[in-house]
Amino acid sequence: MADSLTALRKALRNRYRIEREIGAGGMATVYLAQDLKHDRAVAVKVLRPELAATLGPDRFPREIRIVAQLSHPHILPLHDSGEANGFLYYVMPFVEGETLRARLHRDGELGVHEAVRLLAQIVDALSYAHKHGVVHRDIKPENVMLTGRHALVADFGISKAVSQSATSDNQLTTVGIALGTPTYMSPEQAMGEPDVDHRADIYAIGAVGYEMLTGRPPFAGPTAQTILAAHVTEQPRPVTERRAAVSALLNQIIMKCLEKNPADRWQTAEELLPLLEQAATPSGGMTPTATRPVKAVAAPRANGMRRVAVGAAALFLLTAAGFGAWKVLGADAKGSGRIERLAVLPIEDISGNDKQFVGSMHDALINALGQHQAITVVSRMAVLKLTQESSRSVRELASELNVDAVIEGTAFRSGNKVRINVQMVDPETSRHLWTQSYERTMSDVLAVQADVVTSIATELEKVLSKTKTAQGGS
Ligand SMILES: Nc1ncnc2c1ncn2[C@@H]1O[C@H](COP(=O)(O)OP(=O)(O)OP(=O)(O)O)[C@@H](O)[C@H]1O
Ligand SMILES: [Mg+2]
Repeated sequence: MADSLTALRKALRNRYRIEREIGAGGMATVYLAQDLKHDRAVAVKVLRPELAATLGPDRFPREIRIVAQLSHPHILPLHDSGEANGFLYYVMPFVEGETLRARLHRDGELGVHEAVRLLAQIVDALSYAHKHGVVHRDIKPENVMLTGRHALVADFGISKAVSQSATSDNQLTTVGIALGTPTYMSPEQAMGEPDVDHRADIYAIGAVGYEMLTGRPPFAGPTAQTILAAHVTEQPRPVTERRAAVSALLNQIIMKCLEKNPADRWQTAEELLPLLEQAATPSGGMTPTATRPVKAVAAPRANGMRRVAVGAAALFLLTAAGFGAWKVLGADAKGSGRIERLAVLPIEDISGNDKQFVGSMHDALINALGQHQAITVVSRMAVLKLTQESSRSVRELASELNVDAVIEGTAFRSGNKVRINVQMVDPETSRHLWTQSYERTMSDVLAVQADVVTSIATELEKVLSKTKTAQGGS
């Protein structure tokens, strides 16, 4: 750690003096630094070395150059980007303040008026960026900085730039990288669609607004897969149900952002802006309900089920890489520590008709992983006993089963296609150490099962032996 900081300082010493670390996310660490040429404080975001090492030759693609052109009062600009001694970095102004995440963490929900004001600023930033052809793709409270009364949206285009410069899908899955965040991810991103448009940002702003107003996101769940599935298939509770002080107009603004089908959402950030402004005026947002003009907003639709069904079917038009926008992660020597004992949790049968299939797959997976010499796999009975007893968090389960890592999975079937998502989680940090998605035609159930189980066992073998090597070296 100290060594890599020294190496970074050395690599950047002609341009930036690195002072201290100020934060870290899924793919990078951010440092406070002094820009020596311009004598100003900056934040230098340095991609994790294992990610930098796997990106292709076009490391700062066109996307970043476009982002560097953006100039807007609510967008955190990009000063510079570059590569030095293998470090890939982005430089932006240092913001004195806190992230919206920190604020929500401290205060829970915000005042309605303040929430609307900040939302309008974020939407204003999105509207500008969208007009310049830039989609953010990772709008979340961590990427909104608050300073004084202003919101500044950070990391425009970075998730796209990184995924563009990966030369293959597998690359990102072999290092510990999550692109995008399940909690705010649009259904189309959750389904792994490769080319999402600006309406994915409109969905995310709905999810962020929902959390600002109610203190919790539209969907929560024990695992990333549960949350992703909820974005695709579940209807969020209306904002007004969780916070009565929210006006009907504001409720409708948020709920329409959260429509499953992009065509049913607000179509542009620009059209959303005057509505938010209306919601912020005494007649629109904050006064008793009876007098409020809500005509500008279409009534909430009633046929949610049909659209959900369409969404579920669309899931299976995807390639095997699906659920891929949210990519994870190989064994990360820093996060995982030792993996000596593993538990495989029952596979969740999302579509509800494959109890037997998931049951026998669970069994087969435990048996296959049990062949691995270096690890102990908890028996199926022990796992079932605990999981059936009462609901426990993954962390609690792991501690009772005394395991270092947990494998969980979901199966989702539509017609004769089944999608199986599997992931290995570090119960201490909730970090996803590995994830993989399989899509198969159910022509022969046993063959599908054998194929997927073998594949998972082989993939995990690689991850586990990598972890072992990392341990051995330290
Ligand atoms: N320009 C900045 N000025 C001050 N602090 C910053 C700045 N940019 C980032 N930070 C801090 O660094 C933290 C990490 O930022 P980073 O963008 O790496 O992670 P993230 O947004 O949480 O996740 P992701 O990796 O998905 O983007 C932020 O949460 C914030 O606290
Ligand atoms: Mg960020």
